[in-house]
Amino acid sequence: MSAEFIPVCEPNLGGRELEYVTKAVSGGWISSSGSYVGELERAFAEYLDVPYAVTTTSGTTALHLALVAAGVGPGDEVIIPAFTMIASAFAVCYTGAKPVFVDAAASDWNIDPRLVEAKISSKTKAIMPVHVYGHSCDMDALLQIADAHGLLVIEDAAEALGSFYKGRKCGAIGDLSGFSLFANKLITTGEGGMVVARDGRFIDRLRYYKNLCFPLDGSRRYVHDDIGFNYRMPNVLAAIGLAQLERADIYLEARRSNAARYNAILQGQRGIVIPPELPWASSSYWMYSILIGDDFGPSRDAVMIGLKAAGIETRSFFVSMHRQPALAKYGCDVSGAYPVTDELARTGLYLPSTSGLTDAQIERITSALLALRT
Ligand SMILES: Cc1ncc(COP(=O)(O)O)c(C=O)c1O
Repeated sequence: MSAEFIPVCEPNLGGRELEYVTKAVSGGWISSSGSYVGELERAFAEYLDVPYAVTTTSGTTALHLALVAAGVGPGDEVIIPAFTMIASAFAVCYTGAKPVFVDAAASDWNIDPRLVEAKISSKTKAIMPVHVYGHSCDMDALLQIADAHGLLVIEDAAEALGSFYKGRKCGAIGDLSGFSLFANKLITTGEGGMVVARDGRFIDRLRYYKNLCFPLDGSRRYVHDDIGFNYRMPNVLAAIGLAQLERADIYLEARRSNAARYNAILQGQRGIVIPPELPWASSSYWMYSILIGDDFGPSRDAVMIGLKAAGIETRSFFVSMHRQPALAKYGCDVSGAYPVTDELARTGLYLPSTSGLTDAQIERITSALLALRT
């Protein structure tokens, strides 16, 4: 019999999802007008200890909406890490602004605050730090730079629900933030997203632009002053999200426990770098990510192939933003060197990270990995 296939990640739907979805469907409220949307927004804001949370259709649209609400538009620049998922950059492009890239720090794989100031120009409107794989950025350093230059901070917290920076929840530190509720995230609505705001001045714009710029003030319906978007989350998905959020801390504990068990086996192994967790951070370990050093023997790509043959799914790290043909075509400055990002992209992969991996699965994954070393 062939060994059980272990996917890199799958959702846990072990709570009240079906009950809430059934209520939404049997009540006939499946569109965004149903009550679960507001309930999820209130519960999410409470979870993060912030006054406002606004549902959207994805993490990508959450970031786009946050940028629009912040007033970012054509002619502006937004500083993002070179080491991120493409959605961070695309969200900036949708506004007509240009993303400007900053290399990662080797210590935490996140945007290196020491390199940010050199990228600030008269066009810079915001910094968008990304808490990659659930490890918080050095937010104090970034907030200080933003403050000194009058810039907004919009956190890409797509991967960071449950992560902390110096005891503060990631996504609740900057002016605005965007979360993803895609199926592989700590909690999910299948597809979905959330914008979080600490300041009421953004809330009207968030609600206005996400709903096709229908007037908020009760003036003539079907007369639109601005071009808006339909980023409304359906009630059925919000019902799933609410059930998921009720169990967020259980899933967080499970991901952190996965990481602890992986670390116990992989720490100190020749050719393997385990994921960082700097003193200021409590990582959600959204994905358990490692680097395969040259002293491991086989390359990262060879390791992925070997693990696949053993029935274990993995994913390689992101490719640097300055190497994205789409962004070069769009007119981003893709010159310059991003050595840390390139090295992460060359050597990094993440191992199966589903909440609730068993000891036996972690044993099998790590044994298969170490067996590939030469
Ligand atoms: C860092 C980051 N930003 C944004 C997104 C976009 O989220 P979504 O896939 O929900 O649009 C992702 C997706 O995983 C991500 O990893």
